[in-house]
Amino acid sequence: MAALKVTYIQLDGIEKTIEAEPGQSLMTIARDNMVAGILGDCGGCCSCATCHVYVEPEWLERVGAADEVESSTLDMVSDAHRGNSRLCCQITLRAELDGVRVAVAPSE
Ligand code: FES
Repeated sequence: MAALKVTYIQLDGIEKTIEAEPGQSLMTIARDNMVAGILGDCGGCCSCATCHVYVEPEWLERVGAADEVESSTLDMVSDAHRGNSRLCCQITLRAELDGVRVAVAPSE
């Protein structure tokens, strides 16, 4: 299967565009490629919020909204929680997200 592109905008403003296979979470891709600020401490089970990102507005509809469990975990980072917040361990890379852009959120 062809690799898809994901761009992470780090807190220092540096953008990292990574090619990855579909089916992986954006947290796993970020961690494997040393994206600064994405820790993924819980391994992707939606309990740590150390994979918090802001989805760029033009991608929000395609990425979709957080479900109830993810929203309650995001509430732990309430100061940084915005309307376009997602936990990137809950976003699976798929063809329609080729080129997706997310910004790393500041940690508490
Ligand atoms: S890796 Fe822990 S909530 Fe995403």
